[in-house]
Amino acid sequence: MPCVFSIRPQSPEDALAVDALHEAAFGPGRFARTAYRIREAATRPPLIALTARHEDRVIGAIQFAAITIGGRRGAMLLGPLAIAPEHKNQGCGLQLMNHGLAEASRLGFRLVVLIGDLPYYSRAGFAVIPRGQIHLPGPADPARFLAKALQPGALAEYSGLVAADNEPPPRMD
Ligand SMILES: CC(C)(COP(=O)(O)OP(=O)(O)OC[C@H]1O[C@@H](n2cnc3c(N)ncnc32)[C@H](O)[C@@H]1OP(=O)(O)O)[C@@H](O)C(=O)NCCC(=O)NCCS
Repeated sequence: MPCVFSIRPQSPEDALAVDALHEAAFGPGRFARTAYRIREAATRPPLIALTARHEDRVIGAIQFAAITIGGRRGAMLLGPLAIAPEHKNQGCGLQLMNHGLAEASRLGFRLVVLIGDLPYYSRAGFAVIPRGQIHLPGPADPARFLAKALQPGALAEYSGLVAADNEPPPRMD
């Protein structure tokens, strides 16, 4: 069954519903994850935060936060992505992700990284980052540290440590 839903920017009223999705998808252990550690260091809300709604209920959510890699700007960290259990496997996750990637590209970002399952994220064009090129400020399985270039060759421009980008969004036009 296809997922019939609308995608909208996350609003303040969505916060509780989005948190419930994260709790259902990742449990309380999510706060200890390396990706959360990076996001926690952010002093700004994620630049891209989208919800998928079905019959006026939030059934999916995705965020992208601006990061620096080795001090270089223009990259984003994707996550969390979570879909309500009863709406899984209907294409929602992929559509939400592609919508966010298009928005990141439109804003001028060059690279998106994430920690996740390659068999799933390869469907949106993500591939494993060559070992040792980009470092995370915490433990992660290198086979799950993935990137997608939004501009040809962008991955080669980045190396070093990932950190939250707390500067005002760069003008990249
Ligand atoms: C992972 C998740 C976001 C996928 O969203 P979704 O809307 O169910 O996925 P889609 O409908 O876009 O895609 C479904 C397809 O991806 C596959 N898939 C889903 N999760 C997968 C995974 N972790 N690894 C490999 N394949 C996966 C499904 O088997 C299905 O395959 P099919 O098309 O061959 O039947 C969702 O299941 C979820 O919220 N899971 C819990 C939280 C989570 O793991 N988030 C991602 C962090 S890695």
